[in-house]
Amino acid sequence: MTTFPEPNAPYQYGSVAPYSSSQSRLESSESNIPYAVVAHDLVRTFGQKVAVNHLNLAVRQGEFFGFLGPNGAGKSTTIKMLVGLLRPTAGSALVAGVDVWKEPLRARALMGVLPEYLNLYERLSGREFITFAGHMYGVPDVDVRRRTEELLQVLDLANDADKLIVDYSVGMRKKVALAAAILHRPQVLFLDEPFEGIDPVSSRVIRDILRELTQRGTTIFFSSHIMEVVERLCTRVGIINQGVLVAEGTLQELRERASGDDKDATLEDIFLNVVGVQNGSHNLSWLE
Ligand SMILES: Nc1ncnc2c1ncn2[C@@H]1O[C@H](COP(=O)(O)OP(=O)(O)OP(=O)(O)O)[C@@H](O)[C@H]1O
Ligand SMILES: [Mg+2]
Repeated sequence: MTTFPEPNAPYQYGSVAPYSSSQSRLESSESNIPYAVVAHDLVRTFGQKVAVNHLNLAVRQGEFFGFLGPNGAGKSTTIKMLVGLLRPTAGSALVAGVDVWKEPLRARALMGVLPEYLNLYERLSGREFITFAGHMYGVPDVDVRRRTEELLQVLDLANDADKLIVDYSVGMRKKVALAAAILHRPQVLFLDEPFEGIDPVSSRVIRDILRELTQRGTTIFFSSHIMEVVERLCTRVGIINQGVLVAEGTLQELRERASGDDKDATLEDIFLNVVGVQNGSHNLSWLE
C-alpha cells in the first residue's frame, strides 16, 4: 500500500502528494483501486501564457472522468501532456502507473487517444486506417480483421469503409478515429471532445460503447462541452478554468460544494457557478 493521499479533498487541488515513479501501480489510501491517470503538478506555458497551472489530478481505474472548462481553459493542453503529445514545462504524468515522459512507448501502448484535431492518413480508406492502427498496436491479424469489421458496422461506417478518408465528413472522421483508438482495448482512453460533430444516433452508439468499455475496466478521460452527456456518463468530473483545476469530484459532491442548498442544480448550473459567469457581460451596445 502506498501513501498516496485522497486527491479529491474539497478545493485543495495542490494536495496530491509526491509519488515515486518507480511504483508500478498507485493505490489510494481509501481504496485498493489503482490510479489510472495521475497528473502531478503539471505546468505548461506558451511564452507568457500559462495554459496549465500546477494541475494535480488522479483518476482511478474504471472511472469515467469528465474534464470540463470554458474555451481556452487548458483542457486540450492537459490531455496532450497526459498522452505524450506535448511536453510539460514542469510536472509529470502517469498513465496506468507508467511515467508518460520517461517511458513513452510503454505508456502509449496502454492508452487510446482521440485528439482534438484529427491527423488521419487521408489517402487510406476507413477500413485501411482502422486496420493499420490495430497492427501498429500489435493486435493479432485475426483480431484486427474481426474488430475492424465490427467497429465499422456499429459505427455505421460499413457502407463507406472503402472510401478514402479525405472524402469523409467531420463525423465520419471522428468515428473512424475513435475506432482506431479503441481497437486494441486500451487500459486508458483519452477523448478530446468525442461528441463534437456527431449525430444523435452515432452519439448514442458511442455512449454505449464507452459505457461498456468502462464496465470492462477501461478508464475514460474525456473533455466535452455537452453537459447532458457528461452528466449522464461520468462518475467523476473536473472543471478547469484559466489553467487551474477549480472543482473536482462526483456530481453529487460538486453539487454540495458549488451550489450550497440547491440540491437540484444541474451540471450546467455548477459549471457556470464555478467558472464565475458575469451577469450582463453579454451586452452588445450596437444591438440596441
Ligand atoms: N501551441 C500553442 N501556442 C500558443 N498558445 C497555445 C497553444 N496551444 C494552446 N495555447 C493556449 O493555451 C490556452 C489553453 O488552450 P487549450 O487548447 O488547452 O484550451 P481548451 O480548454 O482545450 O479550449 P477549447 O474548449 O476551446 O478546446 C489557450 O489560451 C490557448 O490559446
Ligand atoms: Mg480543446
